[in-house]
Amino acid sequence: MKVIPGGHVVTLEPLTVGVLGGTGPQGRGLGLRLGLAGHRIVLGSRSAERATAAAAEVSALRPEEALDVTGAGNESAADADIVLVTVPYEGHRELLLGLADVLAGRVVVDCVNPTSYAHRGPPVPVPDGSATEEAAKVLPGSRVVGAFHSVSAKRLLGTNASVSTDVLVCGDDADAKTLVCGLAGQVPGMRGIDAGPLYQARLLEDLTTVLYAINRRYKTHAGFKITGV
Ligand SMILES: NC(=O)c1ccc[n+]([C@@H]2O[C@H](COP(=O)([O-])OP(=O)(O)OC[C@H]3O[C@@H](n4cnc5c(N)ncnc54)[C@H](OP(=O)(O)O)[C@@H]3O)[C@@H](O)[C@H]2O)c1
Repeated sequence: MKVIPGGHVVTLEPLTVGVLGGTGPQGRGLGLRLGLAGHRIVLGSRSAERATAAAAEVSALRPEEALDVTGAGNESAADADIVLVTVPYEGHRELLLGLADVLAGRVVVDCVNPTSYAHRGPPVPVPDGSATEEAAKVLPGSRVVGAFHSVSAKRLLGTNASVSTDVLVCGDDADAKTLVCGLAGQVPGMRGIDAGPLYQARLLEDLTTVLYAINRRYKTHAGFKITGV
């Protein structure tokens, strides 16, 4: 892998990317875009049948691309080079606790916001500070990174060639962060930006509620762009 300043990756070998809760819009959307970037995607679910259906749905979005997207139970999806976590905050802790052994040693990318678009209120307080910090606590043997909190599923699943957003990435494992910045940089229009240590996750997660407000006001699916980098 070769990374240039700003987190752009020039080359990155194809990886297996597992997605916990991959049947939802965020998991399917990230699966689609990372699949288009040439990675093998395993969409996970509590139901293998739902996962298989979600994988077929994602593949059908770009039939001309012959994407390598399959579905499986969450435990099988966790057996991957990189594992994305895209479940509602309510199920986050319990799911990760149950998968701690299989996730040990792996790069785990937490994308969870402890709030919901429907909630419309302020972020839900999290005892560990943020969902990503909670993941790091529950998975002491994993290389936990926070990313993709503010990337709209609607945009990921849309027909647009470019997703056009920066991805703010935080964590305490520098190599894992570089890898995730690189993954993001492989999606046209996306750029991974190193946003600092793991504790920044509480700000990144809360920041998503700002986007919710902007989206409601301007009837759009906005994203963040950092200038000067
Ligand atoms: N949607 C967005 O635009 C967006 C953008 C940025 C970040 N995010 C974050 O990404 C996460 C997923 O968002 P989403 O909109 O895709 O959510 P979602 O559709 O509500 O949930 C995703 C999947 O999680 C699984 N799930 C639901 N409840 C669960 C539980 N209690 N325990 C374990 N698994 C459970 C379900 O899969 P199965 O029933 O198949 O297991 C569901 O399809 C959220 O934390 C959200 O804050 C979303």
